[in-house]
Amino acid sequence: MSTLKIGICGWGNVATGLYKIAKNNIESIKKQGNLDIEIVVIGARRDNPNCKPENVIIERDIFNVVNHDIDVMVELIGGVDVAKDLILKALKKKKHVVTANKAVIYNHGDEIFACAKENGVKVLFESSVCAGTPIIKLLTEELSANKISKISGMLNGTSNFILSNMEDGAEFQSTLELAQKEGYAEPDPSFDIEGMDAAHKIGILSSLALGTSLPPDDFYVQGITNIKKIDFKYADEMGYTIKHLAVAEQNSKEVVLRAHPVLIAKDSYLANLKSVRNGIEVETDLLGTLHLAGSGAGQESTASGIISDLVHLANSSEEHLKAASNEKVILSEFLNLTFQYYFYIEAEDIPGVMASITSVFADKSVGLETIVQKENLDENFVPIVIITDPFKEQDHSNLIENLEKLDSIKSVRTIRIEQD
Ligand code: HSE
Repeated sequence: MSTLKIGICGWGNVATGLYKIAKNNIESIKKQGNLDIEIVVIGARRDNPNCKPENVIIERDIFNVVNHDIDVMVELIGGVDVAKDLILKALKKKKHVVTANKAVIYNHGDEIFACAKENGVKVLFESSVCAGTPIIKLLTEELSANKISKISGMLNGTSNFILSNMEDGAEFQSTLELAQKEGYAEPDPSFDIEGMDAAHKIGILSSLALGTSLPPDDFYVQGITNIKKIDFKYADEMGYTIKHLAVAEQNSKEVVLRAHPVLIAKDSYLANLKSVRNGIEVETDLLGTLHLAGSGAGQESTASGIISDLVHLANSSEEHLKAASNEKVILSEFLNLTFQYYFYIEAEDIPGVMASITSVFADKSVGLETIVQKENLDENFVPIVIITDPFKEQDHSNLIENLEKLDSIKSVRTIRIEQD
């Protein structure tokens, strides 16, 4: 059995979770992973009242952790710039690095991997995407014989938790507070609800499966803050639910990257994954469509991913980082993509309002699949729900502008529909 000497940088929720689980589950780790973990040093700027480490050196300067006799530095400080410096320092000192930090991998992955290669060590980051749900190793190892054409899924547990609860009648704000209390949300929850967390994760998966760079070029990202409870009711009546979906897809010679809310068929696999669960669909040439789901946030799930990286380091000697390629993968222009749309319009309840709305769509040659006038909101305003035929994204904002120019229109909200 191998023993790995590790140094942990950071002493927050994830690090203390790792410490406790590495101690409590050591017998299973030895038995199943053939690994003994020795925690030599912890870099902690301050003590954490939730966990008192025993027989471990404490370094107040996290940059000193790599000066100790360790095989692996586990980076759990979060953030981008300091984490990058710390990781590069460890690699240059020929220490392997395990990190749960998606932001640093997303923003500096290519530079970090190159530095690891140069120094003959590894950087593993399983828990940076979907915590312990093993999507990274699935892509880089188990599916390595496959050509992957598409990855799509709910990659942000907090957004899935909020949307599932809203579907069941809860309010946005109270559900977000619950996600923060449970430790699912990021320290700054705007990363979750504005879509950046999911964008980081799909950027990393796309780099592994489709060869896009880290950081990738800019792509379309939208969060869940504009979704209202009433949208679930109308979506449901038409056979859909609402999810926050991140997509990476090979499209001829380009790659489509996007992360935004969608209406998705209620009977689809992803639609039925509720709460904090992450769900991913991977389309491959040899295995067909593969599904993976699991907890994508929280102390235990993240510790599971980190320990799997340690087990991997201890038991493999082969390089398995993504192959460096000189060919630059081009991202598709989002404005050239085509979607069907859900439009929610609040309009004055006056004769001719429907005709003026439909003429806006007709002027752009956009067909309408369904148009339904719902029960009045109050004396003056009526909601109108429209499902359009597919049209090019570049007409989307113009259509909204033209609708908003109508005197009879109070507000317009749209959600893209994801095709099976
Ligand atoms: N805040 C993240 C989520 C945690 O909600 O999915 C794991 O990255």
